[in-house]
Amino acid sequence: MPTLKIDVRTSTVGSPDLVTFFVKGSPLPVGVPASEFDGAPCSTVLLRDKTQRTLVVGLGDKDKIEPDTLRRAAGAGIKHLLKLGSTEVALDLGTYADHVGPAVEGAILASYKFEGFGKDASKEKRGVLNRLQILVKENELIAARAQARDAEIIATISNTIRGIGNLPGNMLTPAILAEQAQELAQGRPLTVRIWNERHLARDGFGGILAVGQGSVNPPRLIVLEYRGGGRRETPIALVGKAVTFDTGGITIKPGAQMDEMKWDKMGGLAVLGILLAAADLKLPLNLVGLIPSAENMPGPDAYRPGDIITTRDGKTIEVLNTDAEGRIILADAIAHARLAYKPSAILEYSTLTGAVVMALGHRRAGMFTAQDKLRDAFLAAGKATGELVWPMPVDDEYKEGVQSEIATVKNIGPREGSACISASFVKTWAEETPFVHFDIAGTAWSTKPPAHLEAGATGFGLRLTLAALRAGLPV
Ligand code: BES
Ligand code: ZN
Ligand code: ZN
Repeated sequence: MPTLKIDVRTSTVGSPDLVTFFVKGSPLPVGVPASEFDGAPCSTVLLRDKTQRTLVVGLGDKDKIEPDTLRRAAGAGIKHLLKLGSTEVALDLGTYADHVGPAVEGAILASYKFEGFGKDASKEKRGVLNRLQILVKENELIAARAQARDAEIIATISNTIRGIGNLPGNMLTPAILAEQAQELAQGRPLTVRIWNERHLARDGFGGILAVGQGSVNPPRLIVLEYRGGGRRETPIALVGKAVTFDTGGITIKPGAQMDEMKWDKMGGLAVLGILLAAADLKLPLNLVGLIPSAENMPGPDAYRPGDIITTRDGKTIEVLNTDAEGRIILADAIAHARLAYKPSAILEYSTLTGAVVMALGHRRAGMFTAQDKLRDAFLAAGKATGELVWPMPVDDEYKEGVQSEIATVKNIGPREGSACISASFVKTWAEETPFVHFDIAGTAWSTKPPAHLEAGATGFGLRLTLAALRAGLPV
């Protein structure tokens, strides 16, 4: 990937294209009629003179400006200019120095596009962003530089995991994901351990093995540790579902949009990204990331409805639908987090249910937790990052939905309340450990992306969680 140079300065150097921001009601740029530009959020108007192009981007009403307004507006500006072939852009943040972080994030996020493989690129003249200048006032320089540096770390890692996330199932198997995690951890203060199928069998990971057994691409458990906190401080565990492709297995899915199930690994990638960024940001915390990864395929060796599986901590699952596979691999990983690390909290990310998409759509992820303080921390982090979440219930009643006659639980319950029932299923393995489940099925990828993103993987959960961790998670 080409490197992007970012500098925070008081005036431009060289001849970059310029992005300025515009609040509704302020005087219009010279020569722009009101009928062409009203300053609505992310609306744009391009001005040219002999030496420079200036793109004016709307922010909407002044009293409604939030961090995400600048993130999106900066992203919209960058996307617009890249389409015109720009390679150097300056963002004028003189009036918005508080929002340098979000603006830099938006700019970097907007510079990523999944290019695909072997398509005819000759017709595209999309520029590659080489240099980004951030313009602020002299007295804001120091604070703005700190904001820009952290935003660069976070957004660059977000783009990395979006890039891996957009790879199709034939190019990204569990073993390849594990290799990628190892490569990315190299040179960072992270330790990585990979369980292959033999190790998984030795250590009793019956859930990950069952889901993976139908595929010629064997499953893996990826565990990353980051120790930025005190030696005796208990870690926070992060667990992410990484099903590299979900056909549904023997309970096979219908064909329409099945290709989208290449994104069923995004929970795991969010966790990988969080660990990478925590290391680069040198967060003063201990974290452990657990990423169970499998490909869910039908076939002669596949697990089947009726099977009974024993997970890492001895709890058993009656399989009634092989398409409810995420919860089975998560059960093993959550049990392992609890038994091996005794963490102060377990945060878990998964594209778990279609039901959460019906309930909340694509703007907010479902957040399921019994801990009010954790709920409030993530609500605030959502507002700051634009990765919005909404609290959903995990009352014990929902567990009745997965009571089994012959095992600890069965893997599906009634359709009604299915997102909540699924949450109570995964929570079973956390036992008394404070637990948050994020169902990111509606937010992990986008076909109608917001202004600062392109279609494809969004990286949802990464920026949200880093904001919550940096603010100090109440555990
Ligand atoms: N990966 C899917 C959930 C999903 C569906 C995510 C659509 C994004 C869009 C998951 O493994 C699954 O298939 N869940 C089933 C569970 C059901 C069988 C209880 C679902 O939601 O239909
Ligand atoms: Zn499934
Ligand atoms: Zn799935």
